[in-house]
Amino acid sequence: MSEVKIIGVVGGGQMGSGIAQVAAMHGVDVFLHDLDHRVLSKASSSISSSIDRFVSKGTLSQAAGVEVFKRLRFTTNLEDFHTADFIIEAIVESEDVKKSLFVKLDKIAKSSAIFASNTSSISITRIASSTTRPRQVIGMHFMNPPPLKKLIEIIRGADTSDETFATTKALSERLGKVVITSQDYSGFIVNRILMPMINEAFFTLYTGVGTKEDIDRGMKLGTSHPMGPLELADFIGLDVCLSIMRVLHAGLGDNKYAPCPLLVQYVDAGRLGRKRGLQNLTFPHMSDCWDG
Ligand code: NAI
Repeated sequence: MSEVKIIGVVGGGQMGSGIAQVAAMHGVDVFLHDLDHRVLSKASSSISSSIDRFVSKGTLSQAAGVEVFKRLRFTTNLEDFHTADFIIEAIVESEDVKKSLFVKLDKIAKSSAIFASNTSSISITRIASSTTRPRQVIGMHFMNPPPLKKLIEIIRGADTSDETFATTKALSERLGKVVITSQDYSGFIVNRILMPMINEAFFTLYTGVGTKEDIDRGMKLGTSHPMGPLELADFIGLDVCLSIMRVLHAGLGDNKYAPCPLLVQYVDAGRLGRKRGLQNLTFPHMSDCWDG
């Protein structure tokens, strides 16, 4: 099993920045890459605020917080990943975009490097087939937000080797996480169950069965979920939810996975949720839709 000393994280959005933070907090040197330098400066400040919260809660010392930043390097140059032992991809949930990134990484990364995808739903086997190293490609699905959520879902593609699996599991545990293992079918375990529930919450609103407040309150108090499904969609990102529903629909071939038209319309309108700073605006017309 290879020792992971340097991790490269691709994608500095909400997941990539959180994953980079977790790795740096557990003593690993990290490169965080995004195409957009503004995303990287936003990632740096959100990591800094998160570290401050850990320090003020007493779960991290001030000195350890400073060390975390020394282990992090932010870069718009993917070539910097040539020294990485383990690369975690956390870019947009699109198979074509992910595949073209893996083709580039395959040329840049050292031959022993392992490639992990944080995809929520896309086939690891197909992503791996875009590289010359399918034995070293695996799914490593962190939960949101990565610094707080304990779970990592590991997905083995058709060709993932036992060694790649063992290294990924050991790394996940070193990052303080608990691992579950899923076969490589659309949505894996967690999103196969979670996303149809979120989609159904949209249908419940769309067809006027209940208000957004009652749908969320019902699921929180009625089923002990920490967040209601619409609030959770707002947190995950409506674009990510829609992409996952489309993968489930195409991959599992059943109409029960068809995305709700209201979810599609919100994404078309660019109302993606909190990550766009829209937390109070994401669902403004949903109650109108219900009333009307
Ligand atoms: P996001 O939209 O916050 O961030 C994606 C980032 O990728 C953006 O900053 C964008 O500039 C960057 N990017 C896009 N193409 C790129 C490329 N070719 N090279 C470098 N950077 C590129 O998205 P988020 O929510 O962080 O999701 C990322 C991945 O993690 C997706 O695959 C998603 O399905 C998965 N995921 C999302 C969760 C969530 O709750 N949002 C939970 C678990 C997994």
